[in-house]
Amino acid sequence: MDGAGLWRDTRRASIILTSSTLSPTRMSLISLLPRWTESRWSQPLDRALLDHLEPQAAVAGLLGPGPQWTFTTGHLNTLGDMVHAWVGWGRLPVRSTPDEARATTGQGDFIPELFRYLKAIDHLGLIDSDFIDHIYQHNWLAADLYSVMDVLELTAFMGQTDASKFRIVEIGGGWGRVPEMLLKLFPGKIEYVMVDAVPISLVSAEAYLRGAFPELNFGSFARGDDYQPGSYDVYFIPSWELNHLGSARFDVVMNIESFQEMTQDRVDYYLSWFDLVIADRGIAYIANSRDYVFVGDWNFPTSWRTLARHRTPRSWTPDNSTHILRKEVGHFSAGNRIIDVAYASTIPTDPAHVAVSTLRQIRESRAG
Ligand SMILES: C[S@@+](CC[C@H](N)C(=O)[O-])C[C@H]1O[C@@H](n2cnc3c(N)ncnc32)[C@H](O)[C@@H]1O
Repeated sequence: MDGAGLWRDTRRASIILTSSTLSPTRMSLISLLPRWTESRWSQPLDRALLDHLEPQAAVAGLLGPGPQWTFTTGHLNTLGDMVHAWVGWGRLPVRSTPDEARATTGQGDFIPELFRYLKAIDHLGLIDSDFIDHIYQHNWLAADLYSVMDVLELTAFMGQTDASKFRIVEIGGGWGRVPEMLLKLFPGKIEYVMVDAVPISLVSAEAYLRGAFPELNFGSFARGDDYQPGSYDVYFIPSWELNHLGSARFDVVMNIESFQEMTQDRVDYYLSWFDLVIADRGIAYIANSRDYVFVGDWNFPTSWRTLARHRTPRSWTPDNSTHILRKEVGHFSAGNRIIDVAYASTIPTDPAHVAVSTLRQIRESRAG
């Protein structure tokens, strides 16, 4: 089913459910979008679960957190304390003034640029004046627009299928912004597994998504729930327990702004694991900087064909791309390389470009 197909189904379901209360024009995807309040980030951290997972993470070796993500958490109290680490510039509220946007991102027009991009790729018919009203009224952050962007880009490439549900696995999903947006926009069609090596991310995502979707069925390895494909809407599992996912196959494997902070052996391990679990013609959605912490080799399986690779408004370093590939039968390295070379010609080099100056500052502060 293509993205538009998912959307049409969703709209039909919404009309059936709500036709007595909403007029067809207002009964759009907008009605499904999250409505956040000021208390979105004030949920307390589950200390007992953290105390259970943190000692395991400390001895998990290759499958535990790398140095970037090894820190004590005793001083952290709520989910809000982690937002900066999870999404960087994405913490900017959409209602920010240009001066506030410049102070956070270096770009006064950061939010309008995000809108322009979303509008240009909007194959679902989502981005209109109602959408803009909605996000202004309901406390959206730039990161929530990233989620809309990820949903638009992912569903654009999902292709025709008669699958009734899509099974997705994400490594390093932060608080769960992508599953939240997918579950909202495509109710009943998404089954999601969240893998993370960082206990505070796992614990936060579980608390956040359970709070956002009290009606859904959640499973958690750390709480003793066994995984069976089809048995949960959302399942949480530490990276060092991946073998407990058994022989599940996934329509989508995903990593966003996370492999970029790992080492070569971790990235190699996860890409190989993705190749084991991705379904035939499944989509790999990999959006990362390749010039930040991890500057090694991206050893994609040769049977993954690149469908798209490009910078987006989230690209906060020069070489930061959203790379979308599909597992097929064959060897696609040669064709993929041509797309990589074409992409490389779009990497900014002008010292005044905000991504170039951001990376320069990071390197200078590391050197200093
Ligand atoms: C910068 S955040 C990005 C979060 C999310 N993908 C997003 O875009 O909102 C990096 C994520 O990777 C996770 N992570 C860091 N090291 C990891 C590792 N070695 N294995 C799995 N996940 C890891 C962090 O806990 C966090 O969830």
